[in-house]
Amino acid sequence: MRGDRETGAVNVLVSVTLICTFVYVYSDIDVLKEILHKILCWCAVALASVLLKDVLQSRMDVFRDLSRELCHRFNSGIKGLLVPPKRKRDLVKRINDGVYQVNVENIGHVIYNVAPRGDALSRESYNLAVACSNEFVLKNICCFNQNCNQVCYVMEHYEHNFKQWLQENALSDQQGKNLNPDFLQILRDVLRGIAYLHHVKKRCHGNLSETNIVIVNGRAKVTGMVNDISKTSLDDYSDHLHLATIIRRSFGTKQHAIPTELELFVTYISTEKPSRLLNIENHPIFLSPLQRLSYRVIAHTILYFGKSKKSFVLALNNKLGKCKWKHNVKTFHMVLNRYKTLRNLSSKQRKIFQYKQSAISYMRFCRNVVVHLKDNNFNRDPGSKKLTAKEVEEELNGYWPQFMPILHEILLDHDHLMIVHDAVLK
Ligand SMILES: *[C@@H]1O[C@H](CO)[C@@H](O)[C@H](O)[C@H]1NC(C)=O
Ligand SMILES: *[C@@H]1O[C@H](CO)[C@@H](O)[C@H](O)[C@H]1NC(C)=O
Repeated sequence: MRGDRETGAVNVLVSVTLICTFVYVYSDIDVLKEILHKILCWCAVALASVLLKDVLQSRMDVFRDLSRELCHRFNSGIKGLLVPPKRKRDLVKRINDGVYQVNVENIGHVIYNVAPRGDALSRESYNLAVACSNEFVLKNICCFNQNCNQVCYVMEHYEHNFKQWLQENALSDQQGKNLNPDFLQILRDVLRGIAYLHHVKKRCHGNLSETNIVIVNGRAKVTGMVNDISKTSLDDYSDHLHLATIIRRSFGTKQHAIPTELELFVTYISTEKPSRLLNIENHPIFLSPLQRLSYRVIAHTILYFGKSKKSFVLALNNKLGKCKWKHNVKTFHMVLNRYKTLRNLSSKQRKIFQYKQSAISYMRFCRNVVVHLKDNNFNRDPGSKKLTAKEVEEELNGYWPQFMPILHEILLDHDHLMIVHDAVLK
């Protein structure tokens, strides 16, 4: 309708303009010419404005979108700096001094960390966290001036910190035999957070502690990074040293002895060069029994087909020394004594098959147990159940508990990165 009327108006305008022009050109009367000149000017302006309006209308949507986008950017930019997120009422829960859980519109639960305005540490650690993007580093969302004296730093929601987690959770099962998988998961996540800071951000955390490790949905994240102006190469060690201290302290407060493997793990991360801890999240301590069994077989295969067999054997035997592991063998004595059943061998050949007290010999023994699990009926009762991977691994580990962590270190020294997929720990 509107379009039709407009086209009609334009047609009339064009006709009037044409007639006027015609009369203007062919007429000799001065007064008429003057009037026509005025009409012509008026028509030209009207025509131009109608056409301009048409062009503008077709571009209007684009203009509208653009201005909306600009407004949005401006608003969100402001929000990120100054405006406190809209809070839903009565949903503020105090967690610690100055730390609150708050329910915020469109976001859900977040943590408010209220600090004095002059608190440079909080501002620094906020700025450092904002520059990070990793699932093992706590996200910082925005900050705003709470009042003249206080700044509120808004961060991703967490349930509690590691110190609180320790008060509510055990470090191992009741027999003290197996470490709590949740505890191992926390360790592994913290190591990944540290690895991200070291290798991607090229910096240290600088202040790792029980309160600077927080738990989000059962997973750990690090927070509270400290700016290190006077960073030296020695400081690279500090994060792993702090983590080692945290682990020792956890067992200390619970009056638990640290299990052998964890003790070796803690010693390893606090003495090894951080750049060599690349593969630490695949340390045997984090693997399932089945993965540990395959680790033993793969390691044996690497030894026999790898390039540096001699130095590998030397390192393993040196570092582990000798152990009377054969005295500990119970379930798998059939494997241990198999050489006796090979009657057609000469005594010299038999000696080769016999196991010794060395680490290398133990490695071969474990490999043989795993590989021949199917051939041997280790249970004397014919009707009894098959051994599970957990039972086999526990038994082997019991013979020589120091073996796996040291094997891992030596494999790494020989540039074998053992990466086990589908880890029980995510
Ligand atoms: C380290 O973190 C603790 C909280 O875990 C904090 O009290 C302390 O001020 C921090 N130290 C530095 C130097 O930032
Ligand atoms: C010894 O006998 C076994 C079968 O009992 C056989 O498998 C093996 O190859 C023999 N070894 C030698 C060196 O003859």
